[in-house]
Amino acid sequence: MSGTVTQVARFDPLDGGLRGSLRVPPDKSISHRSALLAAMTSEPVVVRNYLDAADTNSTLAAVEAVGALVERRAPGELVIRGTGLRNAQEPAGPIDVGNAGTLMRLLPGWLAAQPGRSWTLDGDASIRRRPVDRVAEPLRRMGARIEATDERFPPFTIHGADLQGIEYVLPVASAQVKSCVLLAGLTTADGTTVVEPAPSRDHTERMLARAGAPIERGDGRVTVRHTDELELERIDVPGDLSSAAFFVAAAVLVPGSRIVLQDVNVNWTRTGFLRILERMGAIVLGDLEEHGAFAAVEPVTELDVAHGPLRGTTVEAEEVPLAIDELPLVALLGCFAEGETVVRGAQELRVKESDRIATVVDGLNALGGDLEATEDGFVVNGSGGLRGGRIASHGDHRLAMLGAVAGLASREGVEVEGMEAAAVSYPGFTADLATLLSR
Ligand code: S3P
Repeated sequence: MSGTVTQVARFDPLDGGLRGSLRVPPDKSISHRSALLAAMTSEPVVVRNYLDAADTNSTLAAVEAVGALVERRAPGELVIRGTGLRNAQEPAGPIDVGNAGTLMRLLPGWLAAQPGRSWTLDGDASIRRRPVDRVAEPLRRMGARIEATDERFPPFTIHGADLQGIEYVLPVASAQVKSCVLLAGLTTADGTTVVEPAPSRDHTERMLARAGAPIERGDGRVTVRHTDELELERIDVPGDLSSAAFFVAAAVLVPGSRIVLQDVNVNWTRTGFLRILERMGAIVLGDLEEHGAFAAVEPVTELDVAHGPLRGTTVEAEEVPLAIDELPLVALLGCFAEGETVVRGAQELRVKESDRIATVVDGLNALGGDLEATEDGFVVNGSGGLRGGRIASHGDHRLAMLGAVAGLASREGVEVEGMEAAAVSYPGFTADLATLLSR
Protein backbone atom coordinates (compact mmCIF):
# COMPACT_ATOMS: atom_id res chain seq x y z
CA MET A 1 0.00 0.00 0.00
CA SER A 2 2.91 2.36 -0.66
CA GLY A 3 1.97 5.92 -1.44
CA THR A 4 -1.35 5.83 0.45
CA VAL A 5 -2.11 7.87 3.54
CA THR A 6 -2.58 5.81 6.71
CA GLN A 7 -6.22 6.06 7.67
CA VAL A 8 -7.34 5.60 11.27
CA ALA A 9 -10.95 4.46 11.56
CA ARG A 10 -12.91 4.06 14.79
CA PHE A 11 -15.45 1.31 15.39
CA ASP A 12 -17.56 1.75 18.52
CA PRO A 13 -19.42 -0.91 20.49
CA LEU A 14 -22.78 -1.53 18.94
CA ASP A 15 -25.98 -1.56 21.00
CA GLY A 16 -28.87 -3.27 19.30
CA GLY A 17 -26.85 -5.38 16.87
CA LEU A 18 -26.49 -5.61 13.11
CA ARG A 19 -29.76 -5.81 11.20
CA GLY A 20 -30.68 -6.05 7.53
CA SER A 21 -29.58 -7.71 4.35
CA LEU A 22 -26.54 -7.22 2.15
CA ARG A 23 -25.05 -8.42 -1.11
CA VAL A 24 -21.35 -9.04 -0.47
CA PRO A 25 -18.72 -8.25 -3.13
CA PRO A 26 -17.74 -10.74 -5.83
CA ASP A 27 -15.35 -13.52 -4.92
CA LYS A 28 -11.69 -12.53 -5.17
CA SER A 29 -10.31 -16.01 -5.95
CA ILE A 30 -12.88 -16.63 -8.69
CA SER A 31 -12.41 -13.14 -10.15
CA HIS A 32 -8.63 -13.67 -10.47
CA ARG A 33 -9.22 -17.01 -12.18
CA SER A 34 -11.87 -15.66 -14.52
CA ALA A 35 -9.52 -12.94 -15.81
CA LEU A 36 -6.61 -15.36 -16.20
CA LEU A 37 -8.56 -18.12 -17.91
CA ALA A 38 -10.33 -15.61 -20.16
CA ALA A 39 -6.92 -14.25 -21.14
CA MET A 40 -5.86 -17.79 -22.07
CA THR A 41 -8.76 -18.26 -24.51
CA SER A 42 -8.92 -16.90 -28.05
CA GLU A 43 -12.67 -16.13 -28.19
CA PRO A 44 -14.19 -13.22 -26.20
CA VAL A 45 -15.35 -14.06 -22.68
CA VAL A 46 -18.02 -12.07 -20.82
CA VAL A 47 -17.32 -11.85 -17.09
CA ARG A 48 -20.23 -10.67 -14.93
CA ASN A 49 -19.82 -9.40 -11.37
CA TYR A 50 -16.01 -9.11 -11.52
CA LEU A 51 -14.56 -7.82 -8.24
CA ASP A 52 -13.53 -4.16 -8.43
CA ALA A 53 -10.76 -4.14 -5.82
CA ALA A 54 -7.02 -3.49 -5.80
CA ASP A 55 -5.98 -7.16 -6.09
CA THR A 56 -8.28 -8.10 -8.94
CA ASN A 57 -7.54 -4.84 -10.76
CA SER A 58 -3.87 -5.88 -10.65
CA THR A 59 -4.89 -9.06 -12.48
CA LEU A 60 -6.70 -7.09 -15.19
CA ALA A 61 -3.64 -4.89 -15.66
CA ALA A 62 -1.43 -8.01 -15.81
CA VAL A 63 -3.50 -9.75 -18.48
CA GLU A 64 -3.57 -6.53 -20.48
CA ALA A 65 0.22 -6.34 -20.14
CA VAL A 66 0.56 -9.78 -21.77
CA GLY A 67 -1.73 -8.92 -24.66
CA ALA A 68 -5.37 -9.47 -23.61
CA LEU A 69 -7.90 -6.73 -24.28
CA VAL A 70 -10.19 -5.87 -21.37
CA GLU A 71 -13.32 -3.95 -22.20
CA ARG A 72 -15.07 -2.51 -19.13
CA ARG A 73 -18.82 -2.36 -19.77
CA ALA A 74 -21.38 -1.84 -16.99
CA PRO A 75 -20.01 -1.87 -13.41
CA GLY A 76 -18.54 -5.33 -12.81
CA GLU A 77 -19.12 -6.44 -16.40
CA LEU A 78 -16.12 -7.12 -18.59
CA VAL A 79 -15.46 -8.53 -22.00
CA ILE A 80 -12.01 -10.08 -22.13
CA ARG A 81 -10.42 -10.93 -25.46
CA GLY A 82 -7.54 -13.26 -24.72
CA THR A 83 -4.41 -14.24 -26.58
CA GLY A 84 -4.98 -17.99 -26.72
CA LEU A 85 -3.18 -20.56 -24.63
CA ARG A 86 0.34 -20.06 -25.99
CA ASN A 87 0.41 -16.50 -27.27
CA ALA A 88 1.03 -14.30 -24.23
CA GLN A 89 3.20 -11.35 -25.17
CA GLU A 90 6.26 -9.91 -23.49
CA PRO A 91 5.60 -6.44 -22.09
CA ALA A 92 8.38 -3.81 -22.12
CA GLY A 93 8.89 -3.87 -18.32
CA PRO A 94 8.04 -5.96 -15.26
CA ILE A 95 4.44 -6.97 -14.54
CA ASP A 96 3.27 -5.32 -11.31
CA VAL A 97 1.18 -7.77 -9.24
CA GLY A 98 0.63 -5.16 -6.51
CA ASN A 99 -0.40 -6.97 -3.32
CA ALA A 100 -1.93 -9.99 -5.08
CA GLY A 101 -0.40 -13.32 -4.02
CA THR A 102 -2.87 -15.30 -6.11
CA LEU A 103 -1.86 -13.43 -9.28
CA MET A 104 1.81 -13.87 -8.43
CA ARG A 105 1.40 -17.67 -8.04
CA LEU A 106 -1.08 -18.42 -10.87
CA LEU A 107 0.16 -16.27 -13.75
CA PRO A 108 3.60 -17.99 -13.91
CA GLY A 109 1.86 -21.32 -14.58
CA TRP A 110 0.47 -19.96 -17.83
CA LEU A 111 3.57 -18.01 -18.85
CA ALA A 112 6.07 -20.81 -18.13
CA ALA A 113 4.55 -22.88 -20.95
CA GLN A 114 5.48 -20.36 -23.66
CA PRO A 115 8.89 -21.10 -25.16
CA GLY A 116 11.31 -18.36 -26.12
CA ARG A 117 9.75 -15.58 -24.05
CA SER A 118 10.43 -14.14 -20.57
CA TRP A 119 8.47 -12.18 -17.99
CA THR A 120 9.46 -10.48 -14.76
CA LEU A 121 6.92 -10.19 -11.94
CA ASP A 122 7.22 -7.73 -9.08
CA GLY A 123 4.88 -6.20 -6.49
CA ASP A 124 4.57 -4.12 -3.35
CA ALA A 125 6.67 -4.38 -0.16
CA SER A 126 4.45 -7.16 1.26
CA ILE A 127 4.61 -9.21 -1.95
CA ARG A 128 8.41 -8.96 -1.91
CA ARG A 129 8.38 -10.83 1.42
CA ARG A 130 6.20 -13.68 0.10
CA PRO A 131 7.89 -16.84 -1.23
CA VAL A 132 7.66 -17.84 -4.88
CA ASP A 133 9.98 -20.86 -4.59
CA ARG A 134 6.85 -22.97 -4.03
CA VAL A 135 5.81 -22.34 -7.65
CA ALA A 136 9.34 -22.02 -9.07
CA GLU A 137 10.23 -25.54 -7.90
CA PRO A 138 7.53 -27.47 -9.84
CA LEU A 139 7.82 -25.18 -12.87
CA ARG A 140 11.58 -25.86 -13.01
CA ARG A 141 10.90 -29.57 -12.81
CA MET A 142 8.62 -29.13 -15.81
CA GLY A 143 11.43 -27.43 -17.75
CA ALA A 144 11.01 -23.68 -17.24
CA ARG A 145 13.87 -21.50 -16.03
CA ILE A 146 13.06 -19.22 -13.10
CA GLU A 147 15.32 -16.66 -11.48
CA ALA A 148 14.16 -15.30 -8.13
CA THR A 149 15.65 -12.82 -5.68
CA ASP A 150 17.59 -14.82 -3.04
CA GLU A 151 16.18 -17.91 -4.84
CA ARG A 152 12.80 -17.32 -3.15
CA PHE A 153 11.31 -13.86 -3.53
CA PRO A 154 10.01 -11.36 -6.09
CA PRO A 155 11.04 -9.75 -8.31
CA PHE A 156 11.43 -12.98 -10.25
CA THR A 157 11.75 -13.89 -13.92
CA ILE A 158 10.09 -16.74 -15.78
CA HIS A 159 11.72 -18.01 -18.97
CA GLY A 160 9.09 -20.04 -20.82
CA ALA A 161 9.78 -23.46 -22.34
CA ASP A 162 8.10 -26.51 -23.85
CA LEU A 163 7.08 -28.11 -20.59
CA GLN A 164 7.08 -31.78 -19.65
CA GLY A 165 4.30 -33.28 -17.60
CA ILE A 166 5.00 -34.21 -13.98
CA GLU A 167 3.30 -35.74 -11.01
CA TYR A 168 3.68 -33.15 -8.29
CA VAL A 169 3.09 -33.93 -4.63
CA LEU A 170 2.37 -30.61 -2.93
CA PRO A 171 4.54 -30.16 0.18
CA VAL A 172 1.77 -27.96 1.69
CA ALA A 173 -1.90 -27.80 0.77
CA SER A 174 -2.07 -24.65 -1.35
CA ALA A 175 -4.69 -23.81 -3.95
CA GLN A 176 -2.34 -21.26 -5.47
CA VAL A 177 0.46 -23.76 -6.09
CA LYS A 178 -1.97 -26.44 -7.24
CA SER A 179 -3.52 -23.98 -9.71
CA CYS A 180 -0.15 -22.85 -11.03
CA VAL A 181 0.93 -26.44 -11.81
CA LEU A 182 -2.44 -27.27 -13.39
CA LEU A 183 -2.31 -24.22 -15.69
CA ALA A 184 1.23 -25.16 -16.73
CA GLY A 185 0.11 -28.78 -17.22
CA LEU A 186 -2.45 -27.86 -19.89
CA THR A 187 0.24 -27.72 -22.56
CA THR A 188 2.19 -30.84 -21.52
CA ALA A 189 2.07 -33.79 -23.93
CA ASP A 190 1.33 -36.47 -21.33
CA GLY A 191 -0.62 -34.35 -18.87
CA THR A 192 0.23 -33.35 -15.32
CA THR A 193 -1.00 -34.56 -11.93
CA VAL A 194 -1.10 -32.69 -8.63
CA VAL A 195 -1.42 -34.65 -5.40
CA GLU A 196 -2.77 -32.67 -2.43
CA PRO A 197 -2.02 -33.50 1.22
CA ALA A 198 -5.46 -32.09 2.08
CA PRO A 199 -8.22 -30.53 -0.05
CA SER A 200 -7.91 -26.83 -0.82
CA ARG A 201 -10.20 -24.47 -2.76
CA ASP A 202 -10.99 -25.96 -6.17
CA HIS A 203 -12.17 -22.95 -8.20
CA THR A 204 -9.47 -23.54 -10.84
CA GLU A 205 -10.55 -27.15 -11.36
CA ARG A 206 -14.21 -26.14 -11.66
CA MET A 207 -13.47 -23.35 -14.12
CA LEU A 208 -11.15 -25.51 -16.21
CA ALA A 209 -13.85 -28.19 -16.41
CA ARG A 210 -16.33 -25.54 -17.56
CA ALA A 211 -13.79 -24.36 -20.15
CA GLY A 212 -13.69 -27.85 -21.67
CA ALA A 213 -10.19 -28.72 -20.43
CA PRO A 214 -9.55 -32.45 -19.99
CA ILE A 215 -9.43 -32.71 -16.20
CA GLU A 216 -9.92 -35.67 -13.86
CA ARG A 217 -10.31 -35.51 -10.12
CA GLY A 218 -10.48 -37.99 -7.29
CA ASP A 219 -8.67 -39.42 -4.29
CA GLY A 220 -6.65 -36.30 -3.52
CA ARG A 221 -5.36 -36.11 -7.10
CA VAL A 222 -6.10 -33.78 -10.00
CA THR A 223 -4.89 -34.51 -13.53
CA VAL A 224 -5.04 -32.20 -16.54
CA ARG A 225 -4.27 -33.39 -20.03
CA HIS A 226 -3.02 -31.62 -23.12
CA THR A 227 -5.35 -29.15 -24.78
CA ASP A 228 -4.90 -26.52 -27.48
CA GLU A 229 -7.79 -24.33 -26.53
CA LEU A 230 -10.02 -23.25 -23.64
CA GLU A 231 -13.61 -22.23 -24.34
CA LEU A 232 -15.50 -20.06 -21.90
CA GLU A 233 -18.30 -17.86 -23.12
CA ARG A 234 -19.43 -16.37 -19.88
CA ILE A 235 -18.50 -16.42 -16.20
CA ASP A 236 -20.75 -15.15 -13.41
CA VAL A 237 -18.72 -14.49 -10.29
CA PRO A 238 -20.62 -15.28 -7.07
CA GLY A 239 -20.30 -13.35 -3.77
CA ASP A 240 -17.20 -13.87 -1.63
CA LEU A 241 -17.60 -15.99 1.50
CA SER A 242 -14.30 -14.60 2.83
CA SER A 243 -15.76 -11.07 2.70
CA ALA A 244 -19.13 -12.26 4.05
CA ALA A 245 -17.26 -13.89 6.96
CA PHE A 246 -16.59 -10.50 8.59
CA PHE A 247 -20.32 -9.76 8.79
CA VAL A 248 -21.08 -13.33 9.86
CA ALA A 249 -18.64 -12.93 12.75
CA ALA A 250 -19.98 -9.48 13.67
CA ALA A 251 -23.57 -10.74 13.73
CA VAL A 252 -22.66 -13.77 15.82
CA LEU A 253 -20.77 -11.59 18.32
CA VAL A 254 -23.01 -8.56 18.77
CA PRO A 255 -26.19 -9.18 20.80
CA GLY A 256 -29.44 -8.39 18.99
CA SER A 257 -28.03 -9.11 15.52
CA ARG A 258 -29.87 -10.82 12.69
CA ILE A 259 -28.64 -10.38 9.11
CA VAL A 260 -28.99 -11.97 5.70
CA LEU A 261 -26.08 -12.13 3.24
CA GLN A 262 -27.11 -12.74 -0.36
CA ASP A 263 -25.54 -14.66 -3.23
CA VAL A 264 -22.65 -16.09 -1.20
CA ASN A 265 -20.47 -18.77 -2.79
CA VAL A 266 -20.66 -21.92 -0.66
CA ASN A 267 -18.30 -24.21 -2.55
CA TRP A 268 -17.47 -26.69 0.25
CA THR A 269 -13.74 -26.07 -0.18
CA ARG A 270 -14.43 -22.55 1.11
CA THR A 271 -16.95 -23.15 3.90
CA GLY A 272 -14.65 -24.52 6.60
CA PHE A 273 -15.29 -21.36 8.62
CA LEU A 274 -19.03 -22.04 8.72
CA ARG A 275 -18.40 -25.60 9.95
CA ILE A 276 -16.04 -24.29 12.65
CA LEU A 277 -18.69 -21.75 13.69
CA GLU A 278 -21.30 -24.46 13.92
CA ARG A 279 -19.05 -26.41 16.30
CA MET A 280 -18.66 -23.24 18.34
CA GLY A 281 -22.45 -23.16 18.68
CA ALA A 282 -23.31 -20.31 16.28
CA ILE A 283 -26.51 -20.31 14.24
CA VAL A 284 -25.85 -19.72 10.53
CA LEU A 285 -28.56 -20.97 8.17
CA GLY A 286 -28.00 -21.54 4.45
CA ASP A 287 -28.02 -24.22 1.79
CA LEU A 288 -24.35 -25.27 1.92
CA GLU A 289 -22.73 -27.55 -0.65
CA GLU A 290 -22.15 -31.09 0.59
CA HIS A 291 -18.63 -31.75 1.88
CA GLY A 292 -16.53 -33.52 -0.76
CA ALA A 293 -18.71 -32.63 -3.78
CA PHE A 294 -17.05 -32.69 -7.23
CA ALA A 295 -18.99 -30.06 -9.11
CA ALA A 296 -18.21 -27.79 -12.05
CA VAL A 297 -20.61 -25.05 -10.98
CA GLU A 298 -20.05 -22.66 -8.08
CA PRO A 299 -22.98 -23.00 -5.64
CA VAL A 300 -24.50 -19.93 -3.98
CA THR A 301 -26.86 -19.42 -1.08
CA GLU A 302 -28.28 -16.83 1.28
CA LEU A 303 -26.78 -16.92 4.76
CA ASP A 304 -29.08 -16.06 7.65
CA VAL A 305 -27.02 -15.24 10.75
CA ALA A 306 -28.06 -14.48 14.33
CA HIS A 307 -26.26 -13.65 17.55
CA GLY A 308 -25.62 -16.52 19.96
CA PRO A 309 -23.24 -17.74 22.66
CA LEU A 310 -20.03 -19.53 21.63
CA ARG A 311 -17.85 -22.30 23.00
CA GLY A 312 -14.21 -23.00 22.13
CA THR A 313 -13.17 -25.53 19.51
CA THR A 314 -10.07 -27.07 17.93
CA VAL A 315 -9.17 -26.62 14.27
CA GLU A 316 -6.79 -29.29 13.00
CA ALA A 317 -4.41 -29.17 9.99
CA GLU A 318 -6.83 -30.99 7.64
CA GLU A 319 -9.43 -28.25 8.09
CA VAL A 320 -6.99 -25.34 7.75
CA PRO A 321 -6.96 -24.92 3.93
CA LEU A 322 -10.77 -24.87 3.90
CA ALA A 323 -10.84 -21.87 6.25
CA ILE A 324 -7.38 -20.38 5.75
CA ASP A 325 -8.40 -16.75 5.23
CA GLU A 326 -10.99 -16.87 8.04
CA LEU A 327 -8.63 -18.12 10.77
CA PRO A 328 -8.04 -14.56 12.06
CA LEU A 329 -11.81 -14.42 12.67
CA VAL A 330 -11.67 -17.76 14.50
CA ALA A 331 -9.12 -16.12 16.84
CA LEU A 332 -11.47 -13.19 17.41
CA LEU A 333 -14.48 -15.44 18.04
CA GLY A 334 -12.34 -17.47 20.44
CA CYS A 335 -11.90 -14.35 22.62
CA PHE A 336 -15.67 -14.31 23.15
CA ALA A 337 -16.14 -18.09 23.50
CA GLU A 338 -16.36 -20.15 26.65
CA GLY A 339 -13.13 -22.17 27.07
CA GLU A 340 -10.17 -22.63 24.77
CA THR A 341 -9.98 -22.29 20.99
CA VAL A 342 -6.97 -23.91 19.32
CA VAL A 343 -5.73 -23.72 15.71
CA ARG A 344 -2.99 -26.18 14.66
CA GLY A 345 -1.19 -26.92 11.40
CA ALA A 346 -1.67 -23.37 10.09
CA GLN A 347 1.97 -22.32 9.54
CA GLU A 348 0.85 -21.02 6.12
CA LEU A 349 -0.61 -18.04 7.99
CA ARG A 350 2.96 -16.82 8.47
CA VAL A 351 3.38 -16.14 4.73
CA LYS A 352 0.12 -14.33 4.00
CA GLU A 353 -0.22 -10.55 3.42
CA SER A 354 1.28 -10.25 6.92
CA ASP A 355 2.54 -12.94 9.33
CA ARG A 356 -1.03 -13.57 10.43
CA ILE A 357 -0.06 -15.64 13.46
CA ALA A 358 1.97 -12.75 14.87
CA THR A 359 -0.23 -9.86 13.74
CA VAL A 360 -3.49 -11.47 14.90
CA VAL A 361 -2.19 -12.68 18.26
CA ASP A 362 -0.39 -9.41 19.07
CA GLY A 363 -3.25 -7.32 17.69
CA LEU A 364 -5.98 -9.05 19.71
CA ASN A 365 -3.83 -9.19 22.86
CA ALA A 366 -3.44 -5.40 22.61
CA LEU A 367 -7.26 -5.18 22.67
CA GLY A 368 -7.45 -7.21 25.90
CA GLY A 369 -7.49 -10.76 24.51
CA ASP A 370 -5.62 -13.72 25.98
CA LEU A 371 -3.92 -15.43 23.04
CA GLU A 372 -0.70 -17.33 22.65
CA ALA A 373 1.09 -17.82 19.34
CA THR A 374 2.48 -21.24 18.50
CA GLU A 375 4.73 -22.11 15.59
CA ASP A 376 1.80 -23.32 13.51
CA GLY A 377 -1.22 -21.54 14.95
CA PHE A 378 -2.53 -20.13 18.20
CA VAL A 379 -4.33 -20.86 21.44
CA VAL A 380 -7.07 -18.48 22.56
CA ASN A 381 -8.33 -18.44 26.12
CA GLY A 382 -11.90 -17.22 26.03
CA SER A 383 -11.72 -14.17 28.25
CA GLY A 384 -15.30 -12.93 28.11
CA GLY A 385 -14.74 -10.57 25.18
CA LEU A 386 -12.41 -7.69 24.41
CA ARG A 387 -11.83 -4.34 26.08
CA GLY A 388 -10.84 -2.47 22.92
CA GLY A 389 -7.99 -0.12 22.02
CA ARG A 390 -5.91 0.27 18.87
CA ILE A 391 -4.90 -2.31 16.27
CA ALA A 392 -2.65 -1.89 13.21
CA SER A 393 -3.56 -3.47 9.88
CA HIS A 394 0.10 -3.86 8.85
CA GLY A 395 -1.20 -3.23 5.31
CA ASP A 396 -3.16 -6.51 5.52
CA HIS A 397 -6.76 -6.17 4.33
CA ARG A 398 -8.11 -8.99 6.48
CA LEU A 399 -6.52 -7.54 9.60
CA ALA A 400 -8.11 -4.13 8.95
CA MET A 401 -11.58 -5.69 8.69
CA LEU A 402 -10.90 -7.91 11.71
CA GLY A 403 -10.19 -4.77 13.75
CA ALA A 404 -13.50 -3.24 12.66
CA VAL A 405 -15.49 -6.30 13.78
CA ALA A 406 -13.53 -6.42 17.05
CA GLY A 407 -14.54 -2.80 17.67
CA LEU A 408 -18.28 -3.44 17.25
CA ALA A 409 -18.11 -6.36 19.69
CA SER A 410 -15.73 -4.72 22.22
CA ARG A 411 -16.58 -2.86 25.42
CA GLU A 412 -14.73 0.39 24.60
CA GLY A 413 -14.32 0.47 20.81
CA VAL A 414 -11.36 -0.07 18.51
CA GLU A 415 -9.29 2.26 16.35
CA VAL A 416 -7.92 0.59 13.25
CA GLU A 417 -4.69 2.07 11.97
CA GLY A 418 -4.37 1.53 8.21
CA MET A 419 -8.03 0.91 7.40
CA GLU A 420 -7.33 1.70 3.73
CA ALA A 421 -5.81 -1.80 3.38
CA ALA A 422 -9.38 -3.18 3.17
CA ALA A 423 -9.46 -1.93 -0.44
CA VAL A 424 -7.29 -4.89 -1.48
CA SER A 425 -10.37 -7.14 -1.42
CA TYR A 426 -13.28 -4.99 -0.22
CA PRO A 427 -13.17 -1.25 -0.99
CA GLY A 428 -16.79 -0.75 0.13
CA PHE A 429 -16.40 -2.57 3.46
CA THR A 430 -16.98 0.37 5.83
CA ALA A 431 -19.91 1.69 3.77
CA ASP A 432 -21.54 -1.77 3.58
CA LEU A 433 -21.05 -2.29 7.30
CA ALA A 434 -22.76 1.06 7.98
CA THR A 435 -25.91 -0.17 6.21
CA LEU A 436 -26.23 -2.97 8.81
CA LEU A 437 -25.73 -0.83 11.90
CA SER A 438 -28.91 -0.13 13.81
CA ARG A 439 -27.63 2.84 15.80
C1 S3P B 1 -6.06 -18.43 -2.64
C2 S3P B 1 -5.53 -19.47 -1.92
C3 S3P B 1 -5.08 -19.34 -0.53
C4 S3P B 1 -5.65 -18.08 0.12
C5 S3P B 1 -5.55 -16.88 -0.76
C6 S3P B 1 -6.28 -17.10 -2.06
C7 S3P B 1 -6.45 -18.67 -4.04
O1 S3P B 1 -3.67 -19.26 -0.54
O2 S3P B 1 -5.03 -17.84 1.36
O3 S3P B 1 -6.12 -15.74 -0.11
O4 S3P B 1 -7.18 -17.84 -4.62
O5 S3P B 1 -6.03 -19.70 -4.58
P1 S3P B 1 -2.75 -20.59 -0.54
O6 S3P B 1 -3.11 -21.38 -1.72
O7 S3P B 1 -1.32 -20.13 -0.64
O8 S3P B 1 -3.03 -21.27 0.76
